[in-house]
Amino acid sequence: MNPNYKHGALMMEGVKLSTVASVIGTPVYCYSRGAIEAAYMRYRQAFSALPDTLVCYAVKANTNQAVIGALASLGAGADVVSEGELRRALAAGVPAGKIVYSGVAKKRNEMAYALKAGIYQFNVESEPELEALSDVAAGLGLTASIALRVNPDVDAKTHAKIATGKAENKFGIPWQRVRDVYRLAGALPGIRIQGIAMHIGSQLLSLEPYAAAYDRLAHMVVALQADGIRLASIDIGGGLGIAYEDDQPAPPAPAELATLAKQHLGHLGSRLIIEPGRSLLGPAGVLLAEVIYVKSGESRDFMIVDAAMNDLIRPAMYDAYHGVMPLVARDGPCKVYDIVGPVCESGDTFATARPMPEVTSGDLVAFKDAGAYGAVMAGTYNSRLLVPEVMIDGDQFGVIRPRGSYEALIGLDTAWQAVAVTDEPEAAPEA
Ligand code: LLP
Repeated sequence: MNPNYKHGALMMEGVKLSTVASVIGTPVYCYSRGAIEAAYMRYRQAFSALPDTLVCYAVKANTNQAVIGALASLGAGADVVSEGELRRALAAGVPAGKIVYSGVAKKRNEMAYALKAGIYQFNVESEPELEALSDVAAGLGLTASIALRVNPDVDAKTHAKIATGKAENKFGIPWQRVRDVYRLAGALPGIRIQGIAMHIGSQLLSLEPYAAAYDRLAHMVVALQADGIRLASIDIGGGLGIAYEDDQPAPPAPAELATLAKQHLGHLGSRLIIEPGRSLLGPAGVLLAEVIYVKSGESRDFMIVDAAMNDLIRPAMYDAYHGVMPLVARDGPCKVYDIVGPVCESGDTFATARPMPEVTSGDLVAFKDAGAYGAVMAGTYNSRLLVPEVMIDGDQFGVIRPRGSYEALIGLDTAWQAVAVTDEPEAAPEA
């Protein structure tokens, strides 16, 4: 369990979180390097039964260079969804040959950048994207190795905003058209068919949807073999969900996922790719905040902290639950709080009617399981500074993204100046 109390102080590895808060200030994200590495090794070991497996960390979960770098040094590849993420993965030391480029609509300039970098695979999601990629690759005298991301029409039984494998979702090639699109791919000059890919959603807490999707995928691979298409790689998408609530059943372990993958896909002789994000980073991170005031409302008590929806948007966006722990253990009376930030929206609420040991102004709290989809989704709404990040390693901690400054924030804006346009855009044809 990370973090936990030692002599009444909430610790991450060998560091008191209250020390980080007092030295760096709040709000601040803290990640445990040991927990990130251990979570990655659980996938590595689980999939050792399928020795040709590439674990590509889905960097969208947390793109800090120190985080990607820690995983790269253990041999992880990367799953990226934009030129920015690709640049971050390369800069952090992930070899291009271990990078998969996912995403529903890559632009031509992004394709060109990735082709020149020499990435392992593009996961292509539509015919027009495939044609554009062929065109860009041929224009550069290169060939793009591709997998088609297929949509298996499986219900991942997760939050609607992060379910991606149903026919009505924007993702992947519709199941009925998959074989035709492979035929098209085979005929395009800049394309080399390498694999097949799927991703049915995030925060999956049961193996059943995976079993259904793997089964469909296996049938498709065999059908494609009959069409003369042999696939060297099978990308099974993101990793497992995590337990955000203490009393919820434990999610399936990577070992169970690996067993399932072996059962359904192991005999096909292809390399497996898995792209975990949340399960590597989520439990390894906390967001520290200070209680600014406790305010008694008509019907409830508000704990107003100095972190807000712009720092951690998951509760506002997905009604997500994050555990909240005081940094100093308390045995005193419990109270029930609505835990909110200072941003001017009622949606800026981290928790409603949450029982907590009583707190007062100046107390410090940690939002748990905030290492994934936390800092990466942060913004500067209400002109709040981008939240800093700290990595803890043993009994030491280091800043991996400093807090910004108001000068830098305001300095992003420039004085108005007319833009000189040399090529007039073509006039729209008359109706
Ligand atoms: N691969 C692809 C193609 C993906 O779209 C995703 C996540 C992953 C891998 C990683 O999945 P994971 O192992 O993290 O479940 N912001 C949301 C989560 C969005 C996930 C989007 N795709 C949240 O905070 O819950």
